[in-house]
Amino acid sequence: MRYPEHVIEQIREQSDIVSIISEYTALNKRGGSYVGLCPFHNEKTPSFSVSEEKQLYYCFGCGAGGNVITFLMQKENMNFIEAIKYLAERENIKLDETYLTDEELESNRKRGQLLEILKESARYFHFSLRAPENGEALSYLTSRGLSLETIKQFGLGYAPHQFNGLYEYLKQKGYKDELLLESGLFLQGKQSQTMIYDRFSGRVIYPIFDLSKKVIAFGGRVLDGSLPKYLNSPENMLFNKSRTLYGMHLAKNSGAPYFILVEGYMDVIAMHQAGFTQTVASLGTAFTPGHAKLLKRHTGEVVILYDSDNAGQKAALRAIPILRNEGIKVKVLLLEEGKDPDEYLKTHGYDAMKALLEGAPPDIWFQIRTIEKKYQLEIPEEKIKFLQEASIVLAETSSSIEQAIYLKEVSKAYQIDEEAFKAEMNRHYQRGMRKVAMKSEVKSPLQKKQLFNNEVIFLATLYHFPNLTKHVLSYLKPEMFEEGLLFDLAKAILESIEQGTEIDMTYFTTHYADVDEQNIISHVLIHKDQRYEDTTILKKMITENVKRLNKVYIEKRLKETKDINEVQILLFQKKELDKLNIDYING
Ligand code: UTP
Ligand code: MN
Repeated sequence: MRYPEHVIEQIREQSDIVSIISEYTALNKRGGSYVGLCPFHNEKTPSFSVSEEKQLYYCFGCGAGGNVITFLMQKENMNFIEAIKYLAERENIKLDETYLTDEELESNRKRGQLLEILKESARYFHFSLRAPENGEALSYLTSRGLSLETIKQFGLGYAPHQFNGLYEYLKQKGYKDELLLESGLFLQGKQSQTMIYDRFSGRVIYPIFDLSKKVIAFGGRVLDGSLPKYLNSPENMLFNKSRTLYGMHLAKNSGAPYFILVEGYMDVIAMHQAGFTQTVASLGTAFTPGHAKLLKRHTGEVVILYDSDNAGQKAALRAIPILRNEGIKVKVLLLEEGKDPDEYLKTHGYDAMKALLEGAPPDIWFQIRTIEKKYQLEIPEEKIKFLQEASIVLAETSSSIEQAIYLKEVSKAYQIDEEAFKAEMNRHYQRGMRKVAMKSEVKSPLQKKQLFNNEVIFLATLYHFPNLTKHVLSYLKPEMFEEGLLFDLAKAILESIEQGTEIDMTYFTTHYADVDEQNIISHVLIHKDQRYEDTTILKKMITENVKRLNKVYIEKRLKETKDINEVQILLFQKKELDKLNIDYING
């Protein structure tokens, strides 16, 4: 499906980027634009800028940039269509559904109905929890230290001990069996298919929310020691476990400098209640790259706070490389034996937890200490094995700065020769590099920076210093820039300088929907490089780029053209190029 351009444009025009971004970071008006702390990276002084006029944002610190649609795509993990729908809803714009294929229409309709069913069910469960006859459930939760306010905030509920109470309730509201079965809330008799009954019965209910705070699934816990302790909704078109983190709908607005990853429902809730509103959990599944991607949208640092038992340690070791792979800084905190965060908070409170979190060791130390525990270091052979394993941990770290730091620290801590340790690490490193080279689809921050190549930077300079660049217009052609976005940007910028007109933003929003493309657009149109306020530097930059682009262009045309006249002109231009000295009249 594709929405027509005029629809996208209407939505973009009516959605005020300043007010939407203000929900994520405080913006102050400064000159023609708004500035604030960047919502994409941690910073103490504002380098994030939003242009109301161009409806673009750009961070001078980390290079993040784009329009209101890509902002939502990056910040809320939405795809293009979802962002459009979200904005349309916000601005009360009715999206004409005729743009959708029949299949999409059907799937949308079903999605809407399933969401309704889950909402109704969440209400039913929450209401049941407050019913006097279910006092046992409520007192279970309060006895675990949850306040009524917390219970409400997380929409907790109770599925009464009944065979099909919820089923009857929804049936009477008119929902059909087929749809009810797809909601994941019901089971069907093996013998008699007509017998449908509630999946959750006699359990405390934890609704699971998506990022827009809609209920998409449930978890249910027994009140006693029976098994299984927890039941979860199965996956369906609403619920994808490996992309959902419990508590994320609240944590994403916490504004915290680091996020906390715990194991379970109760840990998340207890942590939030205590004030750690940046806590999330992956539910009943291992931590996945999908989870890491979701976290990356909201934070650059994660403290893993799993149970200190064996399973918790193992799970932490597995989560570390997955988080690192997304470029997230990782720390690991293990609480004293047998405690989970929920219990720890009850006995030690907020301040003690906060101190532990702030003192949590980096993942590498955690890994090394875990290895250490396997060996008796007083025995030389065991110590050698320990060092060999520890050196693999360092070898797998892709940053050589980190390697250097830990080589020093670890050698010192275990009194070993740094050079020998380093040699051991390098042996593994060589091998490891081959592995890394193979999974090259992972985009590192560095590769991302290379979005802004010479051409992009030059276009930004042309755009922001029109008084000087107007003198080079005759030397530049859009064809000198890469086909596609850069060509279009060059064309628009050269025209706007020549004719003193505004750039047609509509064109760029509708033709270039990709996040990277919008990032380039915002860089070019917002990033005014202060170094070029110095006209000597600016002139040099412009002259060099004009020469370079002309040279490449002339050579390319010489290869392509068969027109003898053009060849002559090109050869003449090529000779002139070296002598080129641009006359900056007003410079
Ligand atoms: P835990 O057993 O650590 O539970 O499982 P918990 O969260 O501390 O719960 P309380 O304190 O006993 O009430 C951690 C998470 O693993 C999933 C749940 O998401 C749980 O929160 N889990 C656990 C299941 O999905 N099924 C189970 O049977 C057990
Ligand atoms: Mn627990």
